[in-house]
Amino acid sequence: MAAPMMPDVRAPFAGLGGQTPETLFGALPTPCYILDETILRKNGEILAGVAQRTGCKILLAQKAFSNYDLYPVLEPYLAGTEASGLYEARLGAEEMPGKEVHVFCAAYRADEWDALLRYADHIVFNSPRQLQKFGPAAKAAGKSVGLRINPELSTQEGHAIYDPCAPGSRLGTTRAQWDEAVRVAPELPALLDGLHFHTLCEQDSDALESTLQVVGERFSDLLPQMRWLNFGGGHHITRADYDIPRLERCIRMAQEAWGVQVYLEPGEACALNAGYFATRVLDVLQNGETKIGVLDASAACHMPDVLEMPYRPPLYGAADAGEKAYTFRLGGPTCLAGDIIGDYSFDAPLQEGDLLLFGDMAIYTTCKNNTFNGMPLPAIYTRGENGVLRCLKQFGYADFKGRLGS
Ligand SMILES: Cc1ncc(COP(=O)(O)O)c(C=O)c1O
Repeated sequence: MAAPMMPDVRAPFAGLGGQTPETLFGALPTPCYILDETILRKNGEILAGVAQRTGCKILLAQKAFSNYDLYPVLEPYLAGTEASGLYEARLGAEEMPGKEVHVFCAAYRADEWDALLRYADHIVFNSPRQLQKFGPAAKAAGKSVGLRINPELSTQEGHAIYDPCAPGSRLGTTRAQWDEAVRVAPELPALLDGLHFHTLCEQDSDALESTLQVVGERFSDLLPQMRWLNFGGGHHITRADYDIPRLERCIRMAQEAWGVQVYLEPGEACALNAGYFATRVLDVLQNGETKIGVLDASAACHMPDVLEMPYRPPLYGAADAGEKAYTFRLGGPTCLAGDIIGDYSFDAPLQEGDLLLFGDMAIYTTCKNNTFNGMPLPAIYTRGENGVLRCLKQFGYADFKGRLGS
């Protein structure tokens, strides 16, 4: 007899274990986010497997996921955190104590510098000028100093907003910029312990492989002098079809060719599919041929990547427009005409009060939402590994008003 198929635990709703959203989350106030600790741990286990087999170190990019109450779930599998600036560096140091804190910011501020030195142990600069300005003080404070390079290889299409290799990009130092800087300031290379590149977005390891090749060609003189090489984020490692063996070959190649400690700093892959967003239908209307569901959730406020990226979140029980009998355009209650989550089809017409559950909602949501239009911030729940729901945080009028004035 054939072995039973293992369920794909990395599909967006696998964590529900076959139960319906109404059964599991019907009693929660909407809109709310639900963070799934079981999936978070499974992601951690996959990442730890890569680290154990290759010797690379993996960091949580907190810009994607910074619900620190759940850091203890991920912490056993990670070497530390990656920060975009002072506040995230402090959060990582406070909430994943004893682990590494890496920071990259496109430009550091002099008035935050001393505080940053308290929290970060690896500091990555974006430009030769920033390296020249802050590098000596970082070294004197015993920090590991890095430079973000721009290999000038775009490996993605359709996500221009997430392409740091686009022409004219401000992110990372190109070879030409580096050569020009070193001509004027030959002391710069001696400041460097490592190089960093971040060029990928939700990509597989074939894109990493081509990037590494170009990095190796363009920076061949610097790499053997480095102690570490950070491959950045954008590696969709915990996605079911991601090519992990190829990733591991890339890591080993870098280790062997240049003698570096390899770091990865994925955000998405740490918390991929580890969260849901529950919302209810407030109104159903029709304009010409278009059926519309107005939800108590907003793309602009609660899932901004849907508009920014743009990105189409998976919706439990729904299919693409036209696939099932009833297609609805789902939008938020705000004034923004474009506050549209997308067109989805259902087996039955949407009704006022229906509960909808979006998947893959742990990343770039709770750390990126806003109160435009006075929209309330959704509560954050966790679903523990024992299935128990816990309210992590509720928000109210004071959270909206408090940010706007005295
Ligand atoms: C420097 C850097 N590192 C890591 C990440 C995390 O990327 P992802 O969440 O796509 O893995 C980002 C995302 O923008 C980034 O800019």
